[in-house]
Amino acid sequence: MATACKYPFLLSLTFTFFMFTSASTSEADALLNFKSFIDDPKSSLSSWSNTSGLHHCNWTGITCIPTPILYVSSVNLQSLNLSGQIAASICELPYLSHLSLSDNLFNEPIPLHLSQCSSLETLNLSNNLIWGTIPDQISQFDALKVLDLSKNHIEGKIPETIGSLVHLEVLNLGSNLLSGSVPFVFGNFSELVVLDLSQNAYLVSEIPTDIGKLEKLEHLFLQRSGFVGEIPESFVGLQNLTTLDLSQNNLTGKLPQTLGSSLKNLVSFDISENKLFGSFPTGICDGLGLKFLSLHTNFFNGSIPNSISECLNLEIFQVQNNGFSGDFPDKFWSLPKLMLVRAENNRFSGELPDSISMAAQLEQVQIDNNSFSGKIPQGLGLVKSLYRFSASLNGFSGEIPPNFCDSPVMSIINLSHNTLSGQIPELKKCRKLVSLSLADNSLTGQIPPSLAELPVLTYLDLSKNHLSSSIPQGLQNLKLALFNVSFNKLSGRVPLSLISGLPASFLEGNPGLCGPGLPNSCSDEQAKHHSSGLTTLACALISIAFVIGIVIVAAAVFVFHRYSKRKSQIGTWRSVFFYPLRVTEHDLVMGMNEKSALGSGGPFGRVYTISLPSGELVAVKKLVNFGSQSSKALKAEVKTLGKIRHKNIVKVLGFCHSDESIFLIYEFLQKGSLGDLICRPDFQLQWGVRLRIAIGVAQGLAYLHKNYVPHLLHRNLKSTNILLDADYEPKLTDLALYRIVGETAFQSTMASEFAHSCYNAPEFGYSKKATEEMDVYSFGVVLLELITGRQAEDTESLDSLDIVKWVRRKVNISNGALQVLDPKISTSSQKEMLGALEIAMRCTAVMPEKRPSMFEVVRTLQSLNTSPCFANMELSCTSEDQSPTV
Ligand SMILES: *[C@@H]1O[C@H](CO)[C@@H](O)[C@H](O)[C@H]1NC(C)=O
Ligand SMILES: *[C@@H]1O[C@H](CO)[C@@H](O)[C@H](O)[C@H]1NC(C)=O
Ligand SMILES: *[C@@H]1O[C@H](CO)[C@@H](O)[C@H](O)[C@H]1NC(C)=O
Ligand SMILES: *[C@@H]1O[C@H](CO)[C@@H](O)[C@H](O)[C@H]1NC(C)=O
Ligand SMILES: *[C@@H]1O[C@H](CO)[C@@H](O)[C@H](O)[C@H]1NC(C)=O
Ligand SMILES: *[C@@H]1O[C@H](CO)[C@@H](O)[C@H](O)[C@H]1NC(C)=O
Ligand SMILES: *[C@@H]1O[C@H](CO)[C@@H](O)[C@H](O)[C@H]1NC(C)=O
Ligand SMILES: *[C@@H]1O[C@H](CO)[C@@H](O)[C@H](O)[C@H]1NC(C)=O
Ligand SMILES: *[C@@H]1O[C@H](CO)[C@@H](O)[C@H](O)[C@H]1NC(C)=O
Repeated sequence: MATACKYPFLLSLTFTFFMFTSASTSEADALLNFKSFIDDPKSSLSSWSNTSGLHHCNWTGITCIPTPILYVSSVNLQSLNLSGQIAASICELPYLSHLSLSDNLFNEPIPLHLSQCSSLETLNLSNNLIWGTIPDQISQFDALKVLDLSKNHIEGKIPETIGSLVHLEVLNLGSNLLSGSVPFVFGNFSELVVLDLSQNAYLVSEIPTDIGKLEKLEHLFLQRSGFVGEIPESFVGLQNLTTLDLSQNNLTGKLPQTLGSSLKNLVSFDISENKLFGSFPTGICDGLGLKFLSLHTNFFNGSIPNSISECLNLEIFQVQNNGFSGDFPDKFWSLPKLMLVRAENNRFSGELPDSISMAAQLEQVQIDNNSFSGKIPQGLGLVKSLYRFSASLNGFSGEIPPNFCDSPVMSIINLSHNTLSGQIPELKKCRKLVSLSLADNSLTGQIPPSLAELPVLTYLDLSKNHLSSSIPQGLQNLKLALFNVSFNKLSGRVPLSLISGLPASFLEGNPGLCGPGLPNSCSDEQAKHHSSGLTTLACALISIAFVIGIVIVAAAVFVFHRYSKRKSQIGTWRSVFFYPLRVTEHDLVMGMNEKSALGSGGPFGRVYTISLPSGELVAVKKLVNFGSQSSKALKAEVKTLGKIRHKNIVKVLGFCHSDESIFLIYEFLQKGSLGDLICRPDFQLQWGVRLRIAIGVAQGLAYLHKNYVPHLLHRNLKSTNILLDADYEPKLTDLALYRIVGETAFQSTMASEFAHSCYNAPEFGYSKKATEEMDVYSFGVVLLELITGRQAEDTESLDSLDIVKWVRRKVNISNGALQVLDPKISTSSQKEMLGALEIAMRCTAVMPEKRPSMFEVVRTLQSLNTSPCFANMELSCTSEDQSPTV
């Protein structure tokens, strides 16, 4: 903190020195002097040289104006990977009005000495590594019109003296580490058009009421900060506001009643994820500008005012997950530009008017779980852009209009849990329909055969109605993933493919249905009654084929039994190899001794390195057979693991098991585990390699969670379970053992031996169910090990904090984030490491729902990776040897 305050003073001295010595030098020399303080790894400023033959006005990033001879008016060096020092010599350019160094790697406090640039109007230092507090001397910038310090590491309170910057038109302090409360000086910024204080999570402040005085303000961004209290009444003074984003704060109370009628130009309005309540202000949409209204996920109650239907420009309306009640205004549904309506999970009532046909742009309507009533209007079928209409859990009644699926793009219809009656209309026009749910209504008549002509229909739920007659044969032709007709009055023969492919429960509650596997087999009489001669023949043929099939299966089972009996008589060992391994159980057992054991073993058993007769090495994990799985189930489970093919997951080559033990045979990796590496005192991996390991691990986990079928969890991720191949490509091991030893044995072993492991998410202790989020947490811990170069559980160190607590405590103090980075890595990787630290912190969030998915982690880590070395994976290519900046 002390340096942060002294530093500007020192630089002012430097500046005075410059003024004194170089008052008569040319603009080119001033620029060259400025350049001499800058590290320019890409030689982006190579044109900046008095041997290049270029006039300095033609140098990269320079713009000149003729006043009356050429003078530099603008220096724009954004996104050039520059670092080093921002020197005061730039202020020797007497007409410099615009300076942008945004999106670089400048790592210093706010360069106050730039206030000496007498003509400077715009200063953009966004997206650098600017740190420290905003000093009181910020007032020296009182000539600035645009100040952008967003996306840096600026901390502490916003000083009152900032109120001197009375000429500001744009003030952006977003995405920093500002804390405390915001001073009441904003009323001074009478010229302000854009104010951004968003994403300063440590602010704890009311919204200053004097912001309401800013008549020229057009864009106000206060989202994702720590604003508390109510939206000030004074906001009605924001006459020119078009964008208001107050989402994700801790605001409470009601909206100012006159807000709408005063904010006539509002285009975008987002106050989601607060704790606001009360009714919508009347006249919210008296202005014609409103295009985007999003109030979702709050605690609002009250009703939607009639004036909302004046918003002729309204396109997107999202009020879902609140406590709103009352009728939707009729006129709302005919707004000409309306595209998206999301109002689910409220207590709205009222009817959908026929005039909904006038909402010709409407694409998506989700009004599930409300109290809407009346008929489904005929007008709905006239909206040709509608692709989703979901209105389950309401009180809709009457018949479904025959045209309700006429939109050629319609793909999802959900009218389940209403009280609709009458027949299901023939559906022919909605050729894109994917999902149709009409469950739990009072529909009668038969299932329309035309459903079979909808080529992509995949989900069909007609359960809990009063449908009768037989199931159309044509439905067999569809690739239905869900076909639920349970609890109707259907009768007759069930098309065979609908029986074989789907759970029996989807047919239950229809006493009249018959077919193989159902309580009723079809008598000839029923068959005659419901089918033509031809289909009877077909049925008969199919039945014969079915019987033959069963005989074959039974024979196979018999042979298999004989075979496995014979085998188990020979020895108690049974083996399955997924790769041609020339090894016997005997070889394995003999090979397992103290010498071949790797490490002390995990919770379920030790790992041995076994040399095969061919000379190949394999790793064999010896698990205790808890006997909780039958031999067959065990085989199926190991096969499930054996089929995984991913470059970041260790291959299972095969397994053998007896009544006492299970040997899992894995490919052997020479380099050992990441855990072994980190705990070496000479752990030296460069950042590029560490990041690559992190990305690989994340990819492996993401694959297990989402791509592999069945989806798997790792449930024991830690750095010692991440093996490295010769190229440091990581491979996960010891995964999904719960599938092999059985859930109960797995849980009790983990609970007894690993209950206090710091890789375990906090909810591990009390949550019965294992989740992806728990894996994400463990991953976060591994990532922290890579970033800090410390072991997660450093039993030796004096402060026996686990790594997550250690990092949290450091990060909470000023510049702490920089202190946790592994000092063995050069500062040139700092930005990437800080990015990775941010992800690690999110992964290790206490609340499981705050943690990102592994896919998101992969994406974010990949976006961090700016190292040119990455592509060719050359470990020798490193920035470690560069001279440190600063
Ligand atoms: C630019 O060139 C002039 C003469 O050619 C020389 O006096 C001056 O020192 C040079 N400036 C720099 C910064 O090299
Ligand atoms: C900059 O370069 C352009 C063309 O490359 C040239 O026409 C112009 O005269 C140069 N400007 C100065 C000030 O030298
Ligand atoms: C500052 O520069 C960034 C580009 O790096 C740009 O996105 C941003 O709009 C600029 N700020 C202002 C206020 O112009
Ligand atoms: C507000 O601006 C006036 C000049 O316009 C100045 O005298 C006053 O000190 C400023 N207020 C603050 C809190 O800086
Ligand atoms: C509001 O904006 C309009 C045009 O965008 C402008 O003419 C008007 O002066 C602004 N009002 C105020 C109070 O600045
Ligand atoms: C909002 O308040 C809750 C509890 O009152 C607190 O846990 C949370 O951190 C606050 N959020 C913000 C963004 O300040
Ligand atoms: C709205 O919420 C407030 C606060 O929770 C409560 O006092 C009020 O009764 C609610 N109003 C309605 C109509 O539910
Ligand atoms: C329906 O909405 C209420 C809140 O209005 C919510 O509590 C309930 O969980 C929702 N029901 C379903 C099935 O989503
Ligand atoms: C900055 O450096 C990274 C890699 O170091 C590179 O991917 C990026 O393109 C560079 N940016 C510019 C503008 O040169």
